[in-house]
Amino acid sequence: MPRLKKDKVTTFNRNAIIFAIASWLSLSISVASAEPISTSQSTQQKSVSTNATAAGDVATGRKWAPLCMSCHGAHGISTEETYPNLAGQKEAYLINAMHEYKNGMRKNPTMVAMAAPLSAQVIADLAAFFSSLSPGH
Ligand code: HEC
Repeated sequence: MPRLKKDKVTTFNRNAIIFAIASWLSLSISVASAEPISTSQSTQQKSVSTNATAAGDVATGRKWAPLCMSCHGAHGISTEETYPNLAGQKEAYLINAMHEYKNGMRKNPTMVAMAAPLSAQVIADLAAFFSSLSPGH
């Protein structure tokens, strides 16, 4: 019987994880309390009662995106050489990358911590948003 390695998580950067959880918590609060941007929009509320991942939603992704903007730029174009641009990237690529940070295939500690608390739905929404931005902004 193979034994599960329980100590894997201890190799992660704890501070980065704490930072990510803290940002995630404060962001969920602001997203939860955010008013719909357009008042003319009729009730298109999705009731998320299952674990199924719906197609990414740009408007929802825009609400989560502030979590990413400090590094990846307000329009998905970073001013720092170390942070990749996300604007205009293919949606499927962004989704894959995020899942690779979650499942350990990609090991960058910052992004591992950023991706860890995000659900597949939030990842899909973020990918839809960043993919919708112009790469030439
Ligand atoms: C503290 C800075 C920081 C924050 C905040 C951050 N990232 Fe990143 N991100 C990085 C760095 C650094 C890399 C490059 C990591 C690597 O080499 O794998 C990266 C890489 C990525 C990649 C892979 C890009 C590629 O071309 O392969 C994606 C996708 C991504 N980030 C999405 C996000 C999303 C979505 C958020 C918000 C939930 C976010 N990031 C928040 C620093 C950050």
